[in-house]
Amino acid sequence: MKNLFEIDEWKIVQNHYEPSKQLQSESIFSIGNGSFGQRANFEENFSGPTLQGSYLGGIYYPDKTKVGWWKNGYPEYFAKVLNSCNWIGINLIVNNKLIDIHNQKVISFNKTLDMKKGLLSRKVTLQLNDESELLLEFDRFCSMDNPNLGVVKVNIKPKNFSGKLTAEVYLNGKVYNNDTNFNELFWNHEVSSCNKYKGHVCTSTKKTKFLQSTAMEYMVECNEKKLEVIPEVLEEPFKISNKFQIEIKENQTYTISKYVGISTNLNDAKANVVEESVRVSKNAIAIGYEELLKNHIKAWEEIWEKSDITIAGDKKAQQGIRFNIFQLYQTYTGKNEKLNIGPKGFTGEKYGGATYWDTEAYCLPFYLKTNHSLVARQLLMYRFNQLDKAIENAKKLGFKNGAALYPMVTMNGEECHNEWEITFEEIHRNGAIAYAIFNYIEHTGDKNYLINYGIDVLVAISRFWEQRFNWSEEKNSYVILGVTGPNEYENNINNNWYTNYIARWCLKYTLESQEFVNSKKISDEEIKKWNKIIKNTYLPQIANSNIFLQQDGFLDKEQLSVKDIPLKERPINQNWSWDRILRSVFIKQADVLQGIYFFEEDFDIKTIKENFNFYEPKTVHESSLSPCIHSILACRINSIEKAYELYLRTSRLDLDDYNHEADEGLHITSMAGTWISIIEGFAGIKIKNQELYINPKLPKNWNSLTFNLKVQNNTINVFFNREKLNIKNNGDKLIKVNFRKESSYLLKTEESLNITI
Ligand code: BGC
Repeated sequence: MKNLFEIDEWKIVQNHYEPSKQLQSESIFSIGNGSFGQRANFEENFSGPTLQGSYLGGIYYPDKTKVGWWKNGYPEYFAKVLNSCNWIGINLIVNNKLIDIHNQKVISFNKTLDMKKGLLSRKVTLQLNDESELLLEFDRFCSMDNPNLGVVKVNIKPKNFSGKLTAEVYLNGKVYNNDTNFNELFWNHEVSSCNKYKGHVCTSTKKTKFLQSTAMEYMVECNEKKLEVIPEVLEEPFKISNKFQIEIKENQTYTISKYVGISTNLNDAKANVVEESVRVSKNAIAIGYEELLKNHIKAWEEIWEKSDITIAGDKKAQQGIRFNIFQLYQTYTGKNEKLNIGPKGFTGEKYGGATYWDTEAYCLPFYLKTNHSLVARQLLMYRFNQLDKAIENAKKLGFKNGAALYPMVTMNGEECHNEWEITFEEIHRNGAIAYAIFNYIEHTGDKNYLINYGIDVLVAISRFWEQRFNWSEEKNSYVILGVTGPNEYENNINNNWYTNYIARWCLKYTLESQEFVNSKKISDEEIKKWNKIIKNTYLPQIANSNIFLQQDGFLDKEQLSVKDIPLKERPINQNWSWDRILRSVFIKQADVLQGIYFFEEDFDIKTIKENFNFYEPKTVHESSLSPCIHSILACRINSIEKAYELYLRTSRLDLDDYNHEADEGLHITSMAGTWISIIEGFAGIKIKNQELYINPKLPKNWNSLTFNLKVQNNTINVFFNREKLNIKNNGDKLIKVNFRKESSYLLKTEESLNITI
């Protein structure tokens, strides 16, 4: 079947209406502004397949969990990001026919997401009956310039007839989640009001008591001239609307523009949410559509200026990377330290919209290198602010002395995940949180952050590791038993190399950081014990080789490779029993290789290569987070075509729907992985001690790469092809550039470096 979306460097374009792909299309065309976002549901009535989704950052409901066998330590609830007030609704009735493209003949259809402008447009021509053709043109955006503003505009043009149009412009706060355990409505109605041309609906979440208010003002025009209408004002609990009827004439254009203010007590803690939402919609209508759109596009321009990547010679890859950057900035902009990045962002309900280790391990490097360091700092502050809860969480499991175990899945710092093999065992997440602090300090040298916040997080995490290690007489070493590594296709294993390695590293880094900031948070007794663990950590390895062993029992498994699995049995998580998966040698995502990626400096190329060649052939990449890490390491060992093959799997994962699951939302956090596979993989970029290291390599399908990067909050511009590398310092700081292991340069403001490669 023909690909649903056209290839275009700046746009996602769909040129035919395809009901069987409508859910995927709703995900792909999602829009957002870091504060709120939504799936690309239609504005008008639609009876085809749809997953209504309009989400507000950080607003969640603690849905009581369903568990067969309860285990002590399980959390009581799984937080769900809430499907919130439908603010886009405009129903249309033309000559007594309810407009519903699922039930009408579609003559032409075009849906375009302009990623440069952040604008979602749809143009549909419908055949209403033998004589009547109706053209509808919708435009919609979630303002990047104003985090509380959404705008919808629809042009209605009867092409060859005259008649009557009835329009209903509404807000509906009675919205159910698709993902609920007991089919409850998660919202209470607080207050609403409706007048001519305007109205608002304020609702609150049950249990969590979040407040949201959505307010609208709208206007009607004919051929760009204001048209007075006499609406019927309708109010019912949760829903307000204006319904009006006008005569429409052949070939004239009738426009409804709807300006929506959205306020929550999470985003606007100090404001009265109703007043704030009303204020935003009122201001917006006064400013007008064109000006609001201009400001929105300008805000996007500033984002692209910092983060765009140009790939010459490969349009598909170009579209793929821009789509990923676009979706990442739609999901998180760093404006609010209470927000984070759910694996599906604002595009679906899976994963509850909650925070995973994905943020620190995958997303943080993206924001660190494409924006001011304050954005990445917000992500670190999110975890700092949840430190008390992480300590409480560890205490519940029996840990003492201020040890912290950060949750696997969280909205407010409390653990939400309740599968024992993940909740209690996938503890490596603690390591990624410490690693993110290290990464941030390497980029920024922000000692103040470490003194005031970071050191407390590091010490608490290290206290957890100290207590989680135990001495093994048999191995004469410190071991960690009963864990799940990043590879969730084996549980309750002993001595997962990655977990042991990162735990030991956390102890070392915390001790170094204590010295660096001259703090006295760790007792002498602790220092002694930590040093003992560091010296005697058990790290399994295959005898007489450089290969680190994923876990103690790994070699007992039948040593097969992925090519031994018949194609019809892939993905194995949809075709094999869980029992069979657990006993198999097959790996879901980078595990030992995740550690080698983080701590690359500790290993020589020969070791990286041997481990890559041992583990990659056993890896089924059934987590979207997997191919990117493998692609980066393939670059390191100079296996560029392999790196490219792996890159393609991550870059267009959702656009080409490799995993047949784009209908339920996009893989937002793995999109950051795609970005790192270009910047850290092909461009070979690292920032260490605030210096830039670069080792560029191009796959054969690409002619050149150009991108901007933040180094010490300076913007530098990088271009390279097969012959030369140019780096320009556009900022005001002196930047040290290290090219391969060959040469180093000091780059002054406005200076360019040109190297023949
Ligand atoms: C992966 C985890 C990841 C989660 C959310 C799972 O499939 O195995 O590593 O944190 O998805 O993206």
